[in-house]
Amino acid sequence: MEYKLESMYGLQDEVAVITGGSGSIGAEAGLALASLGAKVVLLGRNEEKLGRIQEEYKRSGVTIAIGTVNILDKDSVQAAMRNVADTYGRIDILINAAGASHLEDAVDFSEEKWDLIMGVNVKGVFLCCQAAGKYFLEQKKGRIVNISSVRGLQGRARDMAYAPSKGAVNQLTKSLAIEWAPHNICVNAIAPTFTVTDINREDLKNKTYHDWVISRIPKKRICELRYLVGPIAFLCSPCMEFVTGQIIYVDGAWSAA
Ligand SMILES: NC(=O)c1ccc[n+]([C@@H]2O[C@H](COP(=O)([O-])OP(=O)(O)OC[C@H]3O[C@@H](n4cnc5c(N)ncnc54)[C@H](OP(=O)(O)O)[C@@H]3O)[C@@H](O)[C@H]2O)c1
Repeated sequence: MEYKLESMYGLQDEVAVITGGSGSIGAEAGLALASLGAKVVLLGRNEEKLGRIQEEYKRSGVTIAIGTVNILDKDSVQAAMRNVADTYGRIDILINAAGASHLEDAVDFSEEKWDLIMGVNVKGVFLCCQAAGKYFLEQKKGRIVNISSVRGLQGRARDMAYAPSKGAVNQLTKSLAIEWAPHNICVNAIAPTFTVTDINREDLKNKTYHDWVISRIPKKRICELRYLVGPIAFLCSPCMEFVTGQIIYVDGAWSAA
């Protein structure tokens, strides 16, 4: 057996679709995967935001494509995946990095917020897996990486929809992994701890909250985007063929403590 870096970890010409492509984690994952050779399509609702990311990457020599999707809408999801498959002839990788969050006391937590967060974080992720899965099953090859959270494991006060939604993402990851394992499709998730992005930037400006977060992370610092993209790319790589149905905690040992 001969082991070569490129054949184990390279993503040359793999076609990768990333939802939440206009968000911090999705955009950074796109940069990493494109740098490893993948043809990357960043999907989001806001074309202007996506265009700015595309331009920024272009200036640093990285080419990515962009497309619009509302992951709450099945037709929109199917159309977005079809566009990618029609353009590139296939889809090899799906990164589900779209997400929404809201904290509020349980008794005040609105039904509207519940539906939105469960919709984006659970139904939306499922619809994307389902739409990409159709191509993966035809190709007999595919990789999905869902972005879960330490919240999928641990609850917290005022976290009435986000934590349950991430628990659901973990179980969805496992169920899909089992169903699609015979078809050479790997379904895994990474579960990050706090990483400063638009989803929590305002909350983390609160010193008490910020200090509490640090106190919970044995590494004693907030996670950075670069710590997340390594595990994402790793789970997409050819040598990870037998790793499926796993939730990888990228949390500075938070969940171990
Ligand atoms: N940051 C953290 O500390 C952290 C920790 C653990 C897990 N995560 C998870 O990581 C993922 C990415 O979060 P992030 O931190 O990168 O947040 P972010 O920068 O706010 O990105 C969220 C993304 O979700 C997209 N989105 C929301 N609703 C959508 C919809 N209906 N259809 C399509 N796209 C939609 C947003 O698109 P628009 O631009 O159109 O709004 C945006 O691209 C989420 O699942 C989050 O739960 C984050």
